[in-house]
Amino acid sequence: MAYTQDELKQQVAKAAVEYVKSGIIGVGTGSTANFFIEELAKVKHKIDGAVASSEATAARLRGHGIEVFDLNSVDSLDIYVDGADEITEHMHMLKGGGGALTREKIVAAVAKQFICICDSTKQVDLLGKFPLPIEVIPMAWAQIKRELEKLGGQVNLRLKKDGSEQALVTDNQGWILDVSGLQIKNPAELESTINQIPGVICNGIFARRKADILLVGSSEGVKRLVY
Ligand code: 5RP
Repeated sequence: MAYTQDELKQQVAKAAVEYVKSGIIGVGTGSTANFFIEELAKVKHKIDGAVASSEATAARLRGHGIEVFDLNSVDSLDIYVDGADEITEHMHMLKGGGGALTREKIVAAVAKQFICICDSTKQVDLLGKFPLPIEVIPMAWAQIKRELEKLGGQVNLRLKKDGSEQALVTDNQGWILDVSGLQIKNPAELESTINQIPGVICNGIFARRKADILLVGSSEGVKRLVY
């Protein structure tokens, strides 16, 4: 039987909620994470609350009556659950399609386990087909664009979807550059290289803090990979 992409996302969201035991849960951003929030709401009696990786996720959690904690009030998180735009067999990810990459990386850094939830279309041999999102300080974007072009990328400033031709502004008041044409053979090295460009807030390569558990939705059921 063929499943829709949403059904596969719901399937992995249900599988991820089995890892929810107690305490405070780190919650990602995006359509797959939204399915996870729906499932988390069903077991909210087991937890104290959640730390959100974006304002959108925080609003959604609160809408389900789940308390949202400031990350600074939390010493550690057992798990962080989030989707990805691409993931390799080494659990390196490319993230930020939803523009929340910086907070996602921060919350993931606090968590003992990163549980990545996605469907099989996100599994790749090499990162970089999906344009790499980079969050930047707005006054530096043109200079950062030139530096990224030297690395072989084609750079587009992400715009609001309202047709206004204005830059999309993130929760951190940053802008997002989407970089195509990169073949990311050494993700950890490129993650560090891009972080060294002045004005870069964060880039969407998650290689230094990769996923620990991958749950992939498929027509044969949820596949679980542990690295
Ligand atoms: C948001 C992200 C998301 O995890 C990524 O874009 C995947 O989103 P979706 O679950 O909607 O496919 O990194 O910044």
